[in-house]
Amino acid sequence: MCGIIAYVGSKDARSVLLEGLKRLEYRGYDSWGLVFLNEERLVSLKRVGKISQVGSDALEDEFSFSPHIGVGHTRWATHGAPNETNAHPHFDCHHQLGIVHNGIIENYLPLKKELEKQGHVFQSETDSEVIAHLLEECYSGDMVDALRQIMLRLVGTFGLTVISSLHPGMLYGARRGSPLIVGVGDGEMFLTSDVGAIVSHTRQVIYLEDNEIVSISSDSFSTSNLNGMVKKKIEEVTFDAVSLNRGGYDHFMLKEIFEQPESLYNAFRGRLDYQMATVKLGGLDLTFSELQEVQRIKILACGTAWHAGLVGKYLFEDLAGIWTDVEYASEFRYRNFVLPDKTLVLAISQSGETADTLAAVSEAKQKGVKVLGICNVVGSSIARQCRRGVYLHAGPEIGVASTKAFTSQVLVLTLLALYLGRQRNLSRRQGLVTLNAIEALPELARRTLKKAYLLEEIAQATYAHTNFLYIGREYQYPIALEGALKLKEISYVHAEGLPAAELKHGIIALIDEQMPTVVLAPESPILDKTKSNVAEIRARQGRIISVITEANREMDDLSDFKFSIPRTTEFLTPILSVIPLQLLAYYIAVLRGCDVDKPRNLAKSVTVE
Ligand code: AGP
Repeated sequence: MCGIIAYVGSKDARSVLLEGLKRLEYRGYDSWGLVFLNEERLVSLKRVGKISQVGSDALEDEFSFSPHIGVGHTRWATHGAPNETNAHPHFDCHHQLGIVHNGIIENYLPLKKELEKQGHVFQSETDSEVIAHLLEECYSGDMVDALRQIMLRLVGTFGLTVISSLHPGMLYGARRGSPLIVGVGDGEMFLTSDVGAIVSHTRQVIYLEDNEIVSISSDSFSTSNLNGMVKKKIEEVTFDAVSLNRGGYDHFMLKEIFEQPESLYNAFRGRLDYQMATVKLGGLDLTFSELQEVQRIKILACGTAWHAGLVGKYLFEDLAGIWTDVEYASEFRYRNFVLPDKTLVLAISQSGETADTLAAVSEAKQKGVKVLGICNVVGSSIARQCRRGVYLHAGPEIGVASTKAFTSQVLVLTLLALYLGRQRNLSRRQGLVTLNAIEALPELARRTLKKAYLLEEIAQATYAHTNFLYIGREYQYPIALEGALKLKEISYVHAEGLPAAELKHGIIALIDEQMPTVVLAPESPILDKTKSNVAEIRARQGRIISVITEANREMDDLSDFKFSIPRTTEFLTPILSVIPLQLLAYYIAVLRGCDVDKPRNLAKSVTVE
């Protein structure tokens, strides 16, 4: 998705923006652009393709002066093809205002028509360009005032930044529904859509809220909203630039898979309460009795986070006896939904910026329902909109395919289910067993990862297939869906996940020797049922890759390839059984020559509908 980085200060803005744009790459983009101010003139460069191949020498050749103020942008096309004309920045007719924009302007067509009638000439097919022309129309000496005026006219979402030759030494920003963050440095200031782009320069940040405007110079900032000035708190960012690097791994995805022992530990660190056989979750901000009254849980999420939510359904029903359902945020946001009294909504999102989830949260909140956010990115839009929730603390997830965030989401849902369960029927003994099992998880994940080479071998033997099935039952059904999604998104191999027993209702017709099936078959009270499903596949020459529990021999005769995971309680098994599927997808994608961290057509955070 699009990214913004803007700088004003004493450093050479070319290198600050180049580094920032490279840090924004993980969000996914197809083109990029830069604009600097040189002796009262805005000078820009736009390119299609990867900025990672651009060195500072190339930029020095393009811009032969040394600018101290500038704005950079990575674009992921929504309106108009990915080409240099449509790349940002966009300008007004007199080339005095340069803007970059993240989000979508929904009423850009009527605005464009109106502006064209007034004599404005447009260069691009984008929705974003209307911002520059509308700003020009509304400007009469005061940029903040002009921004307020355009914000009253714009419908849709925006995180935008303005640079102008009319105000040298100043940058302006505004947001609605798309993140914009101010970085406060020592004699330098930044604007960005993503703290990761500036964290090597400063950790002091201000998170803008919807409808807020900021103006910055190298040593000052001023924030306001549609009604006047607002005072904002400077906050400290907690992760550093080092954790954003690949740390010796070939891909961020692989690094993040291997980080899971640590990210799992961070999800429960300081939260286990052995004395009361429960957990402490500081951010819930709901009283004991408010939580005790909860009778239903509704989980809203997209993609991998939705799969985590599906595991959550089993967890809340098993551990807490609370009726739970899981819905795609994109479906929920437009329906006449029924949320009975005493329903608690959970919004799960790694990035905290997914447009559909954000809109679903605001829809639920508008109906007066209590919403808890389960997010990874601190201070993200969903986290702030929910105001209460539980952070994953998984650290930045850069690879487009979500891995460590998924296992942390499942673990945080387990903590919440345990908490709610202990308020209800779950015994002290079961509480303690669960705490012990949670505490053992990082070590079990480490043990699982030690055998990654076995998945590499299985990938070698199977990577040429173009169709895969993934099957599992109960807790393993969401893992079948997640395993299939991992394979699809990074290797472009078709894969389908389903509850094992559903095979016979149609999909078994697809089985032949060309269609391997990944079977989630760890120990469970209904493993026998899964075995019968596998037997049906074997009878049709299907090849079987099974994920089993260590030392369990029950799948021996039914499997072509086996991978074993350590034993844990049934409801924590998904956290371990997904690891081999993440690795299998990774190795298959590498063998197929795919760009693992930035798969085609995908973006890390989907901030448009
Ligand atoms: C996961 O591998 C995907 N890239 C995608 O499904 C993702 O989980 C989904 O877009 C939701 O993102 P979020 O967790 O940031 O809200």
